[in-house]
Amino acid sequence: MLDRDLNLGDETLNRMMRVMEVEMKHGLSGNEKFRKQSSLKMLVTYVREVLDGTEEGEFLALDLGGTNFRVLHMTMKAGKLVYFISKTYSISSSTLHGSAVEVFDYIAECIAEFVEEEGIQNEKRLPLGFTFSFPLKKEGLRKGILMKWNKTFRCSDGIGEDVVCLLEDAIHKRGDINVEVVAILNDTTGTLMAGAYIDHHCQIGLIIGTGCNVCYVEHLENVDKWRELIIHPKEVIINTEWGAFGDNGSLDFLKTEVDRCIDKNSPHPGINTFEKLFSGMFMGELLRHYMLENIRNGSLFSGRGENVLEKTGTIKTSHISQIEKDFFNLNQTRKFLREIGLLEDASPSDVAAVRLISELITIRAAKIISTGLAVLLHQINKPTVTIAVDGSLYKYHPTLKHLIQEELNKLVPGTKTKLILAEDGSGHGAGYVAAVVNRLDKRRIH
Ligand code: BGC
Repeated sequence: MLDRDLNLGDETLNRMMRVMEVEMKHGLSGNEKFRKQSSLKMLVTYVREVLDGTEEGEFLALDLGGTNFRVLHMTMKAGKLVYFISKTYSISSSTLHGSAVEVFDYIAECIAEFVEEEGIQNEKRLPLGFTFSFPLKKEGLRKGILMKWNKTFRCSDGIGEDVVCLLEDAIHKRGDINVEVVAILNDTTGTLMAGAYIDHHCQIGLIIGTGCNVCYVEHLENVDKWRELIIHPKEVIINTEWGAFGDNGSLDFLKTEVDRCIDKNSPHPGINTFEKLFSGMFMGELLRHYMLENIRNGSLFSGRGENVLEKTGTIKTSHISQIEKDFFNLNQTRKFLREIGLLEDASPSDVAAVRLISELITIRAAKIISTGLAVLLHQINKPTVTIAVDGSLYKYHPTLKHLIQEELNKLVPGTKTKLILAEDGSGHGAGYVAAVVNRLDKRRIH
């Protein structure tokens, strides 16, 4: 029953591929009707070049996307990062729930403190790149309209406003910060840029963390909805926002009863369908639901333990990463069961069953992610492609990366693919984008 539910066969995955191909095409279409139908928003990032090894200068970067906010100072010489320092600032819950102006005033205050500590407040105007990991409708490299707040942010306003203007207003109001916001980007774009710094075959930036999203380098001729500027380079990074893939019902065929239940009880039902199938915010929940189901039908713990697992959030995604470390014995699975108070009810076959459920959830995640990546690899159509990945689930899950790589080798045998960890892609990437913009500006002036 469980195996049939979670074990996605080739036919289902092929169907997912075909749906994704159509939705991507629609998302990039010049026809508004098609774009509206698609759950893949395929947002044009306006970032069209990665580092070419000639970038020079000093840059600031901001990274906002969760409970913490970071400021970075980076220096580049001949395209190499020669100096780097960063500072993390926590954001109080009153700011998270206040007005957008309060958020940006706080960001400006942190930048002012940082540049003073770094002794760069009186230097020439520093170019600044801003990673802002919320859904943004980009209207230019330095213009992004906030579509919605999510994650821990519950601000009362700001939606429909240009985030760069909000930041600049807060900076100008203070009068003690000499920076120029040259680009705003999503964390996937930052990760792709950081990946390209390590490996010039990098064409995809992937985040597998609390949420999941991917961006890739697209040929301009495929971007029907953006036809203004067909000059070299004929490529642009597209932020797919694939966390929302399936929000129009197009992936209902692969959802299980448990997926439907998780969605119904989530903070935002009907939204971020794809993300809910495997991302860090939901993997633990998948295990909890499948364990509950098996307790209720009497096949796990002789039907005992329902009360322990009734509460949402009892099982964390980090528990799956822990269980998946068990290769030769089931010590980690037992440790997990002890932690949540279920070891006493568990027979050896119960322990093995919990390990199996966790493995099936992991394998399904790997299959779904690699099937999506395979569609992008076909679209990119290059012989060698490196995929830069960041995010806590990817970093701490012991087998997910290997399973994704294995699946990719099967799905796209004609492309040499490699997954690389682009640690802190979102922070570094913002600085790299600022460096590229600065290089292009200089080229234009001279
Ligand atoms: C956001 C994306 C972001 C992803 C990973 C999603 O919830 O909508 O913009 O890239 O999380 O952080």
